[in-house]
Amino acid sequence: MKKNLLPLLLIFLLILQGCNTLQRSAAPYTAEHAMVVSARPEASALALETIRNGGNAFDAMVVTHLTLAVAYPFAGNLGGGGFVVYRMADGEKGSLDFREKAPAAAHRDMYLDAEGNVIPGKSTLGATAAGVPGSLKGLSEAHARFGKLPFHELLDPAIALAENGVIITEKQASTLNRYRDLIVEVNGEETLFAQNLKAGDTLRQPALANTLKTIKKEGVDAFYNGSIAATLADFIQEQGGYITREDLKNYDVAWREAVFFSYRDLEVISMAPPSSGGITLAQIMKMVEPFSIREFKHHSPEMVQLLVEAEKRAFADRNHYLGDPDFVTIPDDILLSEAYLKDRMASFEFGTPTPSTEIARGEINFAESMETTHYSIVDDQGNAVSVTTTLNGAYGSKLFCDELGFFLNNEMDDFSAKPGVPNMFGLTGAEANSIAPGKRMLSSMTPTIVEKDGKLAMVIGTPGGSTIITSVLQTILNVYDFDMNMQEAVDAGRFHHQWKPDVIRMEPGLFPRSLIRKLERMGYTINQEDNRIIGKVDAILVREDGTLEAGADKRGDDAAKGY
Ligand code: DON
Repeated sequence: MKKNLLPLLLIFLLILQGCNTLQRSAAPYTAEHAMVVSARPEASALALETIRNGGNAFDAMVVTHLTLAVAYPFAGNLGGGGFVVYRMADGEKGSLDFREKAPAAAHRDMYLDAEGNVIPGKSTLGATAAGVPGSLKGLSEAHARFGKLPFHELLDPAIALAENGVIITEKQASTLNRYRDLIVEVNGEETLFAQNLKAGDTLRQPALANTLKTIKKEGVDAFYNGSIAATLADFIQEQGGYITREDLKNYDVAWREAVFFSYRDLEVISMAPPSSGGITLAQIMKMVEPFSIREFKHHSPEMVQLLVEAEKRAFADRNHYLGDPDFVTIPDDILLSEAYLKDRMASFEFGTPTPSTEIARGEINFAESMETTHYSIVDDQGNAVSVTTTLNGAYGSKLFCDELGFFLNNEMDDFSAKPGVPNMFGLTGAEANSIAPGKRMLSSMTPTIVEKDGKLAMVIGTPGGSTIITSVLQTILNVYDFDMNMQEAVDAGRFHHQWKPDVIRMEPGLFPRSLIRKLERMGYTINQEDNRIIGKVDAILVREDGTLEAGADKRGDDAAKGY
């Protein structure tokens, strides 16, 4: 009997395979009650466990963040900063800014030589590149306001993971190998990450476990005004950096009014300055809205052109007007007004590029980079958090404090070291983003939450430097204008324009030749070389029936866990 069924089964499997090919993506992972999507399966699983044990989305945030610091040292961090956008089950919404700050000794020309030229590496590599870390204060303040379980208990999963070890994946081994020489250059041969880690190896981090144990015992105050602060500040000073004990003591987070805007029947909540994410995303979506993008085919020349032209205009504004709102006045009312945005698009014509030089001046280069990380959480009560956090570059400044077991960020490079000179993401800045003591550097991080009909509909974000904004944009549009499921929307090929250089970056192999030829004939320059991948989106979609649908980016080891 079983034998007779075999041919039928084979035919069934072949049909299924055919369907999968047609659909381009596997069916999304779903869950009924709660879900965590992050860059590492361990982090997603341990955070979900916290929810199952009575924790809420903010408790899960602490666990995800700290376990990523252990399992994903590439971007997960104690030595960096970030932003959280949240929406509570009762509809309360807000955001917390735990972005790094410039140390007190920082000044406008700190990265320039005597001739006024930017000193290569000074804002990207080693102790001089680090801003005052905000992650731990961010976690503790968010938790103090909204968490349910005792904070000290939430350190246990990360402590255990650091002690028992993390299994290195293929992708991790290859990135570690790529950056090992630089890590050794900054820290010497004896440093933890000088070892040649291969896929399948177990990485144990006893120093990091000890740091986490100190925080468990003494609270995050140990990091800002206690034994860890003393060790960290002394270490940074010895290494020639700027951060002092005083800087750590003075660091504070900021609860900020999020950016709110509508797009068709959606309400979008995203991060306000010092991240450019929310305002720039809002500008692009509002510029695109009148054109009914859903009338075009996905990745048709018209769709790509419309987004690209809106992106150019929004990035030109971003680079000029945006900076830390505690230091500069941002004309956000105007930047987000319908009349202004309509006017910005008045010069747009299908079939004809508007050269970036006609929008503004300046020339820059850009580099590939995916070293931030984003996690999205929905708990079993319907509370949602969207967190993007970073060390900036891969392993941040590469400066690793062996005694404490973690990397320091190189976030100072997000400032504009000199007007018109591009940073590592090819972004140029103006006065609004110049360096000043205690100021926060402008970010592109775009942790975002979408509401539909007054209910939670999507939690989304990504790494990717300047491409963060356009990756979040395309993924939202893929779901709501192009009817993709969450996983398909995340997996679909992405493109990016940031005004300068006047080039459309496209992920190689994910766009038809015919599209590229058509865009080139219109006069666009396409670059498929410099970004192997654009963004690494981790998102959760809430379906009409309340089921949670995951989008864990196939470009990394990202994984969703739910129940
Ligand atoms: O805040 C920012 O915009 C950058 N520091 C983000 C860096 C990043 O996304 C790196 N990964 N691609």
